[in-house]
Amino acid sequence: MSERSAAPAVDPLEPRPRRAPPGHWPDFTTYFLRYPPGLQEVVRVTFAASGPGACAFVDRAIELLHGPDGARTVERGRVLVPADPETQLVIAYWDDPVAHRRWAGSAAVEGLLDGPAPPAHWCETAVLPLTHSEAHFGQRTRQTGLGRLEGTRHEFCPMVGYWGAARDRIPASADDELEPGAMVPGPIAGGSGDQWIVAPANLCTIRTSQDWHGAPADHLAWYREQVEPVLRAGVEHLHGAPHESGCVAVRYVQETDLEGADVDRTCVLAHFRSLGHLEAWARDHPTHHAIFASAMEMVRRFGDDLGIRLFHEVSVLPLGRCHGRYVGCADDAGLLRRVDDEAA
Ligand code: HEM
Repeated sequence: MSERSAAPAVDPLEPRPRRAPPGHWPDFTTYFLRYPPGLQEVVRVTFAASGPGACAFVDRAIELLHGPDGARTVERGRVLVPADPETQLVIAYWDDPVAHRRWAGSAAVEGLLDGPAPPAHWCETAVLPLTHSEAHFGQRTRQTGLGRLEGTRHEFCPMVGYWGAARDRIPASADDELEPGAMVPGPIAGGSGDQWIVAPANLCTIRTSQDWHGAPADHLAWYREQVEPVLRAGVEHLHGAPHESGCVAVRYVQETDLEGADVDRTCVLAHFRSLGHLEAWARDHPTHHAIFASAMEMVRRFGDDLGIRLFHEVSVLPLGRCHGRYVGCADDAGLLRRVDDEAA
């Protein structure tokens, strides 16, 4: 074997951190996600509906998501921020992109979206390349999202506790700055208020998850009084200041069971123009500073027994990996909201 062919191959899913201070070792234990061999990308679809008929629409979507070629995991919720219009939503993940394509192209799914007089609804599809993704957990939990996929496991995470750690956990960031791509042409309009748009290259999507199921009463009281209000304020800021923050869309979601009853978990689902925009908000803005400070105080107070389980997943999406369809929605709904330098 030649010397050249003997060189060890770079594992495209192995993070190669570049930003940790020399000798860095975290003060606390967190975990990042490892995937089953061969898994390269995951499809996440978010369906939402508002107004009369929204619940029935979401119920039907859930039925289809459990049907042939359906999703591996299905989660439901109602949007708390923005509160208007009242919106029900469902978030589904496939670890088989081919099955997802068959599902999305099936007559039953097309019938749901194009059917007679559906309520106002939208559907955002993101193909998350695992080379461009990171999933980070405060505890070894499988509460939502990527963490629930079969064959995934938690591994101790040294890449935490410094700014740039999230970027370091994304394997592709070792060779790519993941800069924001140019804006894509505006939405393609169909009939009946139907608008379809492709996201610009390197849109960054984040889902954070906050779960207090079974938390001791004092942990929950602390979370509700100290953390939740600043989290909500942060989301409201992002929603209200898209050009300042580069946040294209954000939704603060009360998660429910599949029948629509509240469970002890919320999530924030947000899209930013780029990873750099997301990092800048997290690093520089007083609203995330307040979230960060209250969370660190909670961790210090309750230590390893903390009953509030925190998790987030971040992906940077190359061009063509993310699109949205909005029917009967406001012109700035979801990815339709243009956040670029010209609009700022
Ligand atoms: C209850 C909710 C939240 C809590 C408790 C929380 C807490 C934290 C903490 C403790 C860190 C530092 C972790 C480390 O040392 O690597 C952090 C980093 C970060 N947070 Fe939050 N956060 C929350 C919500 C959010 C939301 C809603 C977003 C975005 C929409 C966000 C974006 C980020 C990002 C991107 C980083 C990583 C920055 C970097 O590594 O450079 N966080 N957060």
